[in-house]
Amino acid sequence: MPEVYLNGAFVPAEQARVSVMDRGFLFADGVYEVIPAYGGRPLREAAHLARLSNSLRGIRLPEPLSHTEWADVFRRLLAGTAGIDQAIYLQVTRGAAAVRDHRFPAEVGPTLFAMTRPLAPRDPALSERGVAAIVREDIRWGRCDIKSVALLAAVLLRQEAAEADAEEAILVRGGLITEGATSNVFIVLQGALFTPPKGRQLLAGITRALVLELARGAGIGCEERPIDLPMLRSADEVWLTSSTREVMPVTHLDDRPVGTARPGPLWRRMNALYQELKGSLQRSVDDPI
Ligand code: PDD
Repeated sequence: MPEVYLNGAFVPAEQARVSVMDRGFLFADGVYEVIPAYGGRPLREAAHLARLSNSLRGIRLPEPLSHTEWADVFRRLLAGTAGIDQAIYLQVTRGAAAVRDHRFPAEVGPTLFAMTRPLAPRDPALSERGVAAIVREDIRWGRCDIKSVALLAAVLLRQEAAEADAEEAILVRGGLITEGATSNVFIVLQGALFTPPKGRQLLAGITRALVLELARGAGIGCEERPIDLPMLRSADEVWLTSSTREVMPVTHLDDRPVGTARPGPLWRRMNALYQELKGSLQRSVDDPI
């Protein structure tokens, strides 16, 4: 049984226990991160930890560990994984108080948890078939820039997608695309790449930032601008990005084909760039990427 990190200790997963009074359990009063690690090395660790700091600030929870201390926790968790690619999950809640009260408790320490699990291997059929997505109203709260563990809307939307044999629900608020239930969205329209601008209505994805960086580095024009439903519906390509999905081509939207209904040429280019970056992380031993 792999070890997990809980409040300063590394323990076998089945021995890790959290109080029923934990505010994560009672109120979803906490934040989290998911960090991919290739060849035992976290990808964009500093950016993920910076986003964790933002999320903690967003819910007014003091930083329980420094970034260096978190990095040490990840190193220890990754040490037992034999270089198999992993997704590190970490969560911080406001802790367990004696009574259930919405207001912040005085003098309660946070609950810190981290674990790592193998990343699902990439489906080789992805490059041929892509995935399906459905479009749904964005029913989430107004601070989607905080990576909160309050994920009920995402749970319901992804379940709805699964029941429609789709990989993801792409969300629309006030006529504009925000993001996927668990991913960011890019579209290719008339040769140009677009993604919605950052703001409170979506999570500033680390993969999103990486894709923007790779695009700019390769001379692929990319604009952060609002995307409405007609733009999405007429896109030549639609991509989803996340730490666990990398860059995923959407070939069907609500059962209608996207472009040629095959992963597009710009996706192939971006995927090659992304795989190259991953490969360099898997090969190299000391440069941070
Ligand atoms: N989700 N938007 C939402 C709502 C997300 O939940 C995620 C990631 C993203 C992509 O962010 P990043 O590229 O930093 O992974 C965007 C993670 C993987 C999850 O909840 O499991």
